[in-house]
Amino acid sequence: MSDNKSIVLIGFMGTGKTSVSLLLSGMLGLSHIDLDEEIEKREGRRISEIFADSGEAAFRTIETETLAAVLNGRGQVIATGGGAVLKEENRRLMLDRAWVVALKADERHIIERVQGDISRPLLQGDLHDRVKTLLEQRKHAYDFAHFTVDTSELGTEEVAKRIAVKWEKQ
Ligand code: S3P
Repeated sequence: MSDNKSIVLIGFMGTGKTSVSLLLSGMLGLSHIDLDEEIEKREGRRISEIFADSGEAAFRTIETETLAAVLNGRGQVIATGGGAVLKEENRRLMLDRAWVVALKADERHIIERVQGDISRPLLQGDLHDRVKTLLEQRKHAYDFAHFTVDTSELGTEEVAKRIAVKWEKQ
């Protein structure tokens, strides 16, 4: 794409946003931003600490502020957290300022990928139950993307390549 827009990756936890965004930014020569890392830097706390100390609503407010700040930059690949799409304001910001790519995956692959990772506050407790419930709640949350890739059966490199090919054609 010639106008130096950014690419935003959205998708449920465990769909591969972080690893794909790293590879994709290298392929396209764009800078890389991870929204959760930016939030942690701004706050000087881990995401899990923000949830535990201040609650999810406070986290969502910080997430919106950080998203708006990073979207002021151009020519970046931005990996967002799985819930960054929940607010209308965030969706509008993304669509206005970036090319939005959704990664999706089936329940089994998501569970395989997030299993054993204790850093995600929303997946504490019965993992199968939490993933099932959140997937149901968010079943249309990622539909607004310009382009979607199902990563269930694909390696990171193949996913990044498919996005890069589509991006070059924009
Ligand atoms: C969240 C996903 C997480 C992180 C936070 C909330 C969500 O990011 O932003 O724990 O609501 O789905 P990942 O999708 O990178 O795990």
